[in-house]
Amino acid sequence: MLSPFERMRFMATSNQPGVAALDRRRGFLTKTIALAVGAVAYLAPAAAGIRAFLNPLRQKGSAGRSFRLASLGELDAVPRKFAIVADRVDAWNRFPNEPVGAVYLRRREDGQVEAHQVVCPHAGCSVQFDAAEGRFLCPCHLASYDISGKRLGETSPAPRDMDRLEVEIRDQDQVWVQFANFRTGTPEKIPEA
Ligand code: FES
Repeated sequence: MLSPFERMRFMATSNQPGVAALDRRRGFLTKTIALAVGAVAYLAPAAAGIRAFLNPLRQKGSAGRSFRLASLGELDAVPRKFAIVADRVDAWNRFPNEPVGAVYLRRREDGQVEAHQVVCPHAGCSVQFDAAEGRFLCPCHLASYDISGKRLGETSPAPRDMDRLEVEIRDQDQVWVQFANFRTGTPEKIPEA
């Protein structure tokens, strides 16, 4: 039979492993939280830095700019392809005077100049003009367009007509085109940055 004092000592002693385990768990939890907070504090600025570093890769540089592509005398009713030449910039380098896109130009019967992006709005292949057929044809999934860039066929894979670009005549006969790229695969014509 234990005295009350001995019983208390026995209980205190028998409880010690449980207290130690609890302390260990608390210590582990505290360290884990500290590590997680530290990781977030370190990774957030690092992620922002990586984003800023890679940002130039997404810059097109030439979108929205106007380019002089031809004089009126060079154009007739048959579409002709003209390269867009500009400085191409990536994250680390600048490449001067590189082809960054292309445009079809033609002069309609009423004298107006039409400009179309060569990029197929379906999935981004380069549309070709088939002079024998008098229409545009995309070699990738066979979307076809009439000479004014309008989609042909009931089951065309293309979600919209070819993308028309703004044309401006300067100095009486110089043909300037406002170049732009557009999102592919959407019925709407959405310019890309
Ligand atoms: Fe032109 Fe698919 S990319 S039809």
